[in-house]
Amino acid sequence: MKNENGTFRALMARKTEAGQVVALETISEADLPEADVTVDIEYSSFNYKDGLALKGRNRILRTLPMVPGIDFAGTVRSSTNPHFKPGDKVVLTGWGVGETWWGGFAERARVKGEWLVKLPAGLTPRHAMILGTAGLTAMLCVDALERHGIKPGAEIIVTGAAGGVGSIAVRLLSRLGYRVSALTGRQSEEAFLKTLGAQEIVARDLYAAPGKPLLGERWDGAVDTVGGQILANVLAATRYDGAVAACGLAAAADLPATVFPFILRNVALLGVDSVYCPHERRLRAWMRLADILEERDFAVLAQEVGLEDLPRLADDILAGRVRGRTLVRI
Ligand SMILES: NC(=O)c1ccc[n+]([C@@H]2O[C@H](COP(=O)([O-])OP(=O)(O)OC[C@H]3O[C@@H](n4cnc5c(N)ncnc54)[C@H](OP(=O)(O)O)[C@@H]3O)[C@@H](O)[C@H]2O)c1
Repeated sequence: MKNENGTFRALMARKTEAGQVVALETISEADLPEADVTVDIEYSSFNYKDGLALKGRNRILRTLPMVPGIDFAGTVRSSTNPHFKPGDKVVLTGWGVGETWWGGFAERARVKGEWLVKLPAGLTPRHAMILGTAGLTAMLCVDALERHGIKPGAEIIVTGAAGGVGSIAVRLLSRLGYRVSALTGRQSEEAFLKTLGAQEIVARDLYAAPGKPLLGERWDGAVDTVGGQILANVLAATRYDGAVAACGLAAAADLPATVFPFILRNVALLGVDSVYCPHERRLRAWMRLADILEERDFAVLAQEVGLEDLPRLADDILAGRVRGRTLVRI
């Protein structure tokens, strides 16, 4: 608990002789890195990258000790930045926070004001972290498809659909009037995906094995969160002039594809990054999320956990066993 001495709880990753160890600790405000805005965190969220970080994989945590947690939302406690004052409700995603800078799995954080976004009307810190990095990324993927000229009514496939980015992408696309198919390895999540608005469920196996350089034209567009062979097959099955927004590597980081979809079908592969996305674009994305989603969407998208549950959940998220979003109550 935060107390009068300025101490508070944080999940801390430290280096020991046995390797990286992650445990809840009590630290003080003086321990936080120097920056212009201090935030009382109300919620964080648990992402695939946080799972990698807690397990010490993929060099996500660049220095130790480190407070992991790549996103958070809460209330400004103190600020020397002219754009923020105590009481402002803010959200932070990306910028290397929880990787190279102490992050969101703590009751307090000190960060650069330029990394923060003021919450748009209609979004509380809780809403913001039900969405979190995943929600922002899903919105940026939809933006990318729209900038390519793909319009409501088009047929879109979402891969890794029952995960964080995937489930929000399904909900957003469905609310915007697209015809959404959800590719999943978990048939048990069919009811969840249909509640989110998926009209069709596509079994992951259909696209998991090496396929032909060009498959029958099936999709106007795609949001891909998994990469690898599945992304290659999705590209091969995308219609003339279609586009695939690629943001993830939950299956693999490689892309065993040919150039045929690009040079024979005019298919575009659109890269999407949320971590260093410029401020104006992310502000617009947060405002759009607030606009498109309704209160009942938030209830179905997330389960809520505490800081102490995270080390246990790391294995589950990396094995693809977590449904939708995981909201972390601080
Ligand atoms: N570019 C960016 O800025 C950005 C931002 C956020 C996330 N990401 C990346 O996007 C990906 C998804 O993130 P997330 O937070 O949504 O993760 P998540 O909640 O763990 O969801 C990933 C989903 O991928 C599917 N999946 C897992 N393992 C798989 C495998 N071996 N083969 C095929 N599908 C598999 C599962 O969905 P089903 O069970 O439905 O198949 C799983 O739920 C991650 O790679 C993450 O690093 C990138």
